Amino acid sequence: MSVLSDRIRAYRPADFQSLLRLIGQAFGGETAESVQFAVSARNTSTFVAEWGNEVVGVAMAISFGRTAWIGNVVVAPDFGRHGLGSALTEAACDKVRRHADSVLLLALGDAARLYERLGFVPDGLYGTWTATASTPGIVNADQCGDAGLSLLDAATRPDTTEQCLALDRRATGEDRRAYLEIFVPSMIAAYRRGASDDVGAIAGYSARLASGRGAVIADAPEVARRLLCDMLQKAPATRIEFPDANGAGVSLAAELGLRRFKENLRMRLGPPVSGYQPQAIYKALTPAVG
Ligand SMILES: CC(C)(COP(=O)(O)OP(=O)(O)OC[C@H]1O[C@@H](n2cnc3c(N)ncnc32)[C@H](O)[C@@H]1OP(=O)(O)O)[C@@H](O)C(=O)NCCC(=O)NCCS
Repeated sequence: MSVLSDRIRAYRPADFQSLLRLIGQAFGGETAESVQFAVSARNTSTFVAEWGNEVVGVAMAISFGRTAWIGNVVVAPDFGRHGLGSALTEAACDKVRRHADSVLLLALGDAARLYERLGFVPDGLYGTWTATASTPGIVNADQCGDAGLSLLDAATRPDTTEQCLALDRRATGEDRRAYLEIFVPSMIAAYRRGASDDVGAIAGYSARLASGRGAVIADAPEVARRLLCDMLQKAPATRIEFPDANGAGVSLAAELGLRRFKENLRMRLGPPVSGYQPQAIYKALTPAVG
């Protein structure tokens, strides 16, 4: 336990503006809506660091049962290197470790050293890809292919939603239902068409909120191509984050004219997640929950 643990406490709604400032300055692109969304997601615990009467740091943890994720770890620059980042991460880990076999996170840059000291080990890189000036022209109907797929709104049929959640469990080895429920209204399921044009087996799904959070999970690259094209045609600026271990995904992103501009190191505390299939993940939900 860190000697600074007495500066760490649970988040209170009155801390919201401080949280927004800290997370916004550290990561950019965040809005009051997206931070509120992260704080209020089911099974999420948020901790803050206090110095005097000021909130100067934050960390969040979300529990998926056997796995959990730590994210949004930020300490204000003026208060850095005093151990607050470590104390916040420890508090978040302590909260979720009772149930979780493995705690996961996506580390940015030098932060990996901090996590390593707390026992986290590397578990593969995730690249972040984004559109270039030429992408909107490239992602046209010809690039997408039909791939013999029918795309359906998952929200219209409960069994479709359940099939998307099952597919997600098979790809991640995790039960992310608590978080994915928020995405159901935007979920699109890809089905392989049967011989008589009826709907066959589910092959992938995508989901995307206005904030850009969302996922693409697919059992084959041509399925991912269709889903990613569909997403990029509607929202060309979407950032796509996925494991480098998905070699077909790397080729596909390059073919679609995306550029890899950043990377995060997936790290874990505990054993590898059983059943994790990085080659089925073509877009992670967010850097904070994988
Ligand atoms: C990463 C961060 C939370 C560390 O907070 P902190 O209170 O300085 O952390 P601690 O004092 O417990 O540990 C310091 C260690 O963090 C690591 N570190 C990572 N990024 C760092 C940074 N920008 N500045 C200083 N230390 C950093 C170093 O290993 C450092 O150890 P060292 O001083 O021996 O080199 C803080 O620098 C920050 O908010 N950075 C911007 C947001 C970010 O990248 N968050 C992590 C996302 S995964």
